[in-house]
Amino acid sequence: MASGHTPALTCELLAAELKNRQIDYSQLRFFGLDEWAGLAPEAKGSCARDFMERLIMPLGLQPEQYFLFNALAANLEEECRLMDRRIEAHGGLDIVLAGIGMNGHVGFNEPGTPFTHLCHVAQLEAVTTAVGVKYFDAGTAVPQQGITIGPAHLLSAGTFIIMANGEEKADVVRQAVTGAVDPAFPATMVQLHKNGFMLIDEAAGALLEEGNVMRG
Ligand code: PGA
Repeated sequence: MASGHTPALTCELLAAELKNRQIDYSQLRFFGLDEWAGLAPEAKGSCARDFMERLIMPLGLQPEQYFLFNALAANLEEECRLMDRRIEAHGGLDIVLAGIGMNGHVGFNEPGTPFTHLCHVAQLEAVTTAVGVKYFDAGTAVPQQGITIGPAHLLSAGTFIIMANGEEKADVVRQAVTGAVDPAFPATMVQLHKNGFMLIDEAAGALLEEGNVMRG
């Protein structure tokens, strides 16, 4: 699952549903999609802090139930291989809930990332760091690199959902759904997935044709 603004309400509703309906989620295993390189888990702006506050603590998940990138690891490549092994040890991802960036990124899979990539360290585009400013205290430098679960894991998940909300996402949603499948616009990879969906609000879907939309 992604962190940040896009899935915030989903996290809230998910935590409430699991608890209120007394669903047994002891077998739930949670994987954090990505992290800013070099950021401590408790630092403002870190994805780990977001996951902890929105899902892990409200649900009381035990350490063996969640897997987050250690963005402070001395060797981030090794950290990537460790996450690859964890994902593989669990038989791959069942459900991916990701977001979409203003350059079409999914997680920190920036434009140009081959769809065959596993977990990897990414150089972030200026648009990504500029949008990311909202997650950090004023004056804090936004990291220029990220660590992310790669397209190969997302594409072999059981269900692959990209969420988007707000009118500022309308154009990237349109490109993801109707554009040619190309790593140059990573979110187009959702078209390759047999259970691939965009889960959007009305504003983010404003540029889609009716035929591409299911209301619910
Ligand atoms: P967001 O962007 O910050 O609007 O949730 C999602 C993303 O960049 O993946």
